[in-house]
Amino acid sequence: MPVERSIGFIGGGNMAEAVIKGVIAGGFVREKILVCEPQPERRRLLAERYDVRCVEADELLSSSEIVLLAVKPQVAPVVLSGIAEKVTEKHLLVSIMAGVTTASIQNTFGRPVRVVRVMPNTPALVLQGASAVCGGSHATNEDVQLVRRMFELVGKAWLVDEKLMDAVTGLSGSGPAYVFTFIEALSDAGVKNGLPRDVAAGLAAQTVYGAAKLLLESREHPAVLRESVTSPGGTTIAALQVLERLGFRGSVMESVEAAVTRSAELGKGK
Ligand SMILES: NC(=O)c1ccc[n+]([C@@H]2O[C@H](COP(=O)([O-])OP(=O)(O)OC[C@H]3O[C@@H](n4cnc5c(N)ncnc54)[C@H](OP(=O)(O)O)[C@@H]3O)[C@@H](O)[C@H]2O)c1
Repeated sequence: MPVERSIGFIGGGNMAEAVIKGVIAGGFVREKILVCEPQPERRRLLAERYDVRCVEADELLSSSEIVLLAVKPQVAPVVLSGIAEKVTEKHLLVSIMAGVTTASIQNTFGRPVRVVRVMPNTPALVLQGASAVCGGSHATNEDVQLVRRMFELVGKAWLVDEKLMDAVTGLSGSGPAYVFTFIEALSDAGVKNGLPRDVAAGLAAQTVYGAAKLLLESREHPAVLRESVTSPGGTTIAALQVLERLGFRGSVMESVEAAVTRSAELGKGK
């Protein structure tokens, strides 16, 4: 069934494109999707690829119920003060800007505005994102649920308290980079042991993808699935012993913690 809600994207970069792709696949009507984007090549690409219309911010605000803020956090103050006068109670603002709090968005307006904040990640580009969603103090439960459903069109989405957004950023926001590093390391290990690079890279990526799919579909605890491939005196336990000795888990946990700390610092403008 077509979704008749109008949605305007302020910023037409990578993340906006992922959401545009997802909402179109999820039944949002193309004619009701508008984008405000300064780069002519991006405007051309979005119009050609998704048949959406690119307009100025004023037209976007007068025609859109949902306004998705998808610009870099550094330009948030300029963008928000640029649209402040035109934002009314009919608008639902959805921010995907990393580290920008709902309170700081509301403060720019100086009056109650409905804001929902989302932290997505780049696998949203292939509709496999992991997003966390939280509502600002004037957002209704319906607003938050609507945005959660929107982000389920580009993957999976969880509701969290806003105070946990730094933890989300450190885990799933930055997470794809940790996984890419792991895949690269697996692939290098294959090459070191004689595999051609393309075979090693394919085996490594498919192993991570398949293991994640198996985990999600079986709903088992990771430890249970790990045990199921760890035979006594076998190859896997030999490798696991080395991972434990070299502090693999501790390294992952401390790395995520560094990202969480950095996210909190960035949120305070450091
Ligand atoms: N990529 C991720 O993994 C990720 C994950 C979670 C959240 N996010 C958040 O998503 C947001 C967008 O990220 P992205 O990777 O999509 O960035 P991006 O590709 O740089 O896209 C942002 C776009 O907004 C445009 N823009 C700048 N000022 C504007 C204005 N005043 N009005 C309208 N458009 C304007 C930019 O044009 P110019 O190039 O000319 O400035 C650019 O095309 C960021 O806030 C980021 O924190 C990203």
